[in-house]
Amino acid sequence: MQFNILPGGAMSGEARVPGDKSISHRSIMLGAIANGATRVKGFLEGEDAMATLAAFRAMGVEIEGPNHGNVTIHGVGLRGLRVPAEALDLGNAGTGMRLICGLLAGQDFDAELTGDASLCSRPMGRVIDPLTMMGANIQSASGGRPPLIIRGGQQLRSIHYELPMASAQVKSCVLLAGLYSEGRTSVREPGPSRDHTERMLRGFGYSVQSNQDAIALVGGGSLKGCDIDVPADISSAAFFLVAASIAPDSELMLTHVGINPTRIGVINVLRLMGANITFHNKREVGGEPVADLHVRSAQLKGIDIPVDQVPLAIDEFPALFIAAACAVGRTILRGAEELRVKESDRIAAMAEGLSTLGITNEVLEDGIIIEGGTFGGGVIKTYHDHRIAMSFAIAALRATGEITVLDCDHVATSFPGFDSLARSLGLQIHTAAS
Ligand code: S3P
Repeated sequence: MQFNILPGGAMSGEARVPGDKSISHRSIMLGAIANGATRVKGFLEGEDAMATLAAFRAMGVEIEGPNHGNVTIHGVGLRGLRVPAEALDLGNAGTGMRLICGLLAGQDFDAELTGDASLCSRPMGRVIDPLTMMGANIQSASGGRPPLIIRGGQQLRSIHYELPMASAQVKSCVLLAGLYSEGRTSVREPGPSRDHTERMLRGFGYSVQSNQDAIALVGGGSLKGCDIDVPADISSAAFFLVAASIAPDSELMLTHVGINPTRIGVINVLRLMGANITFHNKREVGGEPVADLHVRSAQLKGIDIPVDQVPLAIDEFPALFIAAACAVGRTILRGAEELRVKESDRIAAMAEGLSTLGITNEVLEDGIIIEGGTFGGGVIKTYHDHRIAMSFAIAALRATGEITVLDCDHVATSFPGFDSLARSLGLQIHTAAS
């Protein structure tokens, strides 16, 4: 499937984008190993979270739904998962695979984890290393890539782990394995990554200590089923925050968006660039802060993106690069080498697409320099990456010619219905078979 987007247009209206992907994955995982039922609303019915749901069904967990975002998970307790009949296929989902590794390391059965071509090219050494230190037995394909075989029956040891990179996936993996370890497991990160696992564990009644940048828990406790209200995903809202900022005469209200401080780098960076974004009706749902976000067109200016914002905006850089291309002046990003190991090499994929549309840019090892300019039209390759596809779709709002974005099927991993929602808000987007 491909997107064809006509140039120009304005964005207006009100929308609630689909549920948060990170929180949706975790709701299934923690609900599955809790005692009693967990009721989730606002669950993201995207392919990634659905792959996690299917994996836990395959391990014997009864799960009702999803039905319009409602899911009920009948938890089996920390020791209740059963051996799956076949390999667990996590599709495109790095979060699914890395967090499930932590849970499976402490089981008494063997399991195999696999995924699509993108996931099978992504590094898993970053979770295999700490889990091996904890006593897990994990085999991988060459270079620490999936498929992974996790041998059960190992008694895990608790460790203190200094993460080499700010990564919520690695942090969460170690903490989840820590549930199955004797004693206190702790992690320290070089910078703050999203803290949904810690927040949700507490929501399930599990004690987690956080101070400054160290997080710890003691294994062997139990989780108690609870209710979870998944906020709209700020990573999906980000495309519309940028769209309404760059398109003239635009104004959008995005409702019930998660504004966890570890996720709002995109808003912080856009505001530094001159964006007009305001929070309304701030509230807390199930331990996560949410707000309605109001955004209007603004003249953006290029900036030097503060390095401390990088982990807080890690998934939003493709959209931010589009904002940078529409800004007056130069935007510089450094310290973002993690972008090279996402669903695609996002620095290379974005640089290629920006060049195709006539935007001057210079690729750095750990970032990019983008000169603000004018988008022409052109044909964009996504490297099967959902966020590359959606970013170049919104670029059309400021383009002088039509943009065709190839291979957009993966948009359904995180944002099912993106094209119809974007069209209802003013983007002149149409889909066609590739
Ligand atoms: C995620 C963490 C981030 C992010 C990913 C989701 C999570 O990855 O890029 O989309 O849900 O924990 P890293 O932790 O590897 O940076």
